Amino acid sequence: MNFELKTLDLNGAAKEKCDALIVLLTTSFKPGKDNLSMLVAQALKAGDLESKSGKALVLYRPTGLACARAVLANVGEGSANEVSKAVKAAVLAVKAGNVKKLVICLATLPQEAVLRAAVTAAAEASYVFTTTKSKPEGRVIQRVVIGVSNSSGFKPVFDRTVAAVAGIEFAKEWANRPANHATPALLAGAARSLAKLANIKCEVLGPKQVEKLGMGAFMAVAQGSEEPLRFIVLRYDGALKSAAPTVLVGKGITFDSGGISIKPAADMDEMKFDMSGAASVLGVFLALAELKPAINVIGLIPSCENLLDGRSVKPGDVVTSMSGQTIEILNTDAEGRLVLCDALTYAERFKPRAVVDIATLTGACVIALGGVRSGLFSADDELAAALVSAGESSLDLCWRLPLDDDYAEGLKTSFADVANVAGRAGGAITAAKFLQRFTEKFPWAHLDIAGTAWKSGTAKGAKGATGRPVALLLEYLLTSAK
Ligand code: BES
Ligand code: MN
Ligand code: ZN
Repeated sequence: MNFELKTLDLNGAAKEKCDALIVLLTTSFKPGKDNLSMLVAQALKAGDLESKSGKALVLYRPTGLACARAVLANVGEGSANEVSKAVKAAVLAVKAGNVKKLVICLATLPQEAVLRAAVTAAAEASYVFTTTKSKPEGRVIQRVVIGVSNSSGFKPVFDRTVAAVAGIEFAKEWANRPANHATPALLAGAARSLAKLANIKCEVLGPKQVEKLGMGAFMAVAQGSEEPLRFIVLRYDGALKSAAPTVLVGKGITFDSGGISIKPAADMDEMKFDMSGAASVLGVFLALAELKPAINVIGLIPSCENLLDGRSVKPGDVVTSMSGQTIEILNTDAEGRLVLCDALTYAERFKPRAVVDIATLTGACVIALGGVRSGLFSADDELAAALVSAGESSLDLCWRLPLDDDYAEGLKTSFADVANVAGRAGGAITAAKFLQRFTEKFPWAHLDIAGTAWKSGTAKGAKGATGRPVALLLEYLLTSAK
């Protein structure tokens, strides 16, 4: 999809030839004398433009306008969230038609946050996954013109948002692929393909190299699968070698059956999304290549399947992690922390300024925060604040949860240095406490995206990856570049 930023007042928007024109209006909108205003005034008078956001009025071939369809949407006070909802509703309202060129008129709402919301929402509402369809019916909307009253000054935020959208869609593509179309090796292939882009390098390690590194926790998860593990190392070099990098670690479990501690059958297909953290890292790298900020970033992806087999790791098995700490694997379904802990130890060699891991780690986080905010954990107040604020400004929200040492009590065991699970209580936090043991050498944050990385559901088109938290991470990285 192609985005274009244009200076358009209401008069200009009325003259834009397009298949659909979306006009967003705040409650405080004062109609002028132009054709579009007249139309809006009539609709307002008739009570057809309620201030309830998410409602859209569709008009076909309205007189005096060059568009084939006009969608008028009330966005209330005009917050970014309202704009996002209104744009999604408006795109859905016209999507079934043959709409190739779309114009979104933001003339009455000139703010950065609104521009970001509109671009991101238009992309989201028109996204279609086609990779595994025999007769792909892809996205119909090809061009989206974003009209603002004065485009000068908005170009940088526009470019950032368009790059973020490309990253989000790359992440969605990989997260949405079923596990047989997104094996660890295929995921590594996706990472390698990114290395063709500006400033990006990629190195992929296999089972032998991982064994040599002593990644006993990662190997224990992978040992029950026929698919060989991959450890993916991506680099984005945008600054001097001397500049300490930020390291992103993405959980790359391409399918999580639970292992011997097998999961129930219902919805188990959704565990193909268990590499959404990895997919978000890939998406961020794609966006970085496009924007070329002056920073260094490393991406680490431990990738494997978690399956059942005669060779699978068993509850009670004790393994030695790369850090030297021994781990009693009491529940093989708590595999994410096992692959991540070795990747975190590997991150030490980069002497990072910060390490952020991104993982669909716990069902408990879904219970705690639902699908609205990702869980954020960090002992570093500055890093936590930066991530929270990046989430707010990119509309990709997170919420900080505690890391008191008392939460680690349940991880104690007689048979190893640490157990991989505690009780059910505070499950998202105890998982974070487990990871924290491997992060002594650098400032660290953990994003639990179990609730936000995909939408469940049976309704046609409702289920799928969200591409979160690509926008949050990108915003955080770009802010750190300033
Ligand atoms: N990938 C799952 C977490 C998950 C579950 C994400 C449901 C999204 C929806 C993770 O590997 C897992 O199985 N975690 C266990 C941990 C437990 C055994 C301590 C969980 O949350 O049940
Ligand atoms: Mn699991
Ligand atoms: Zn998992």
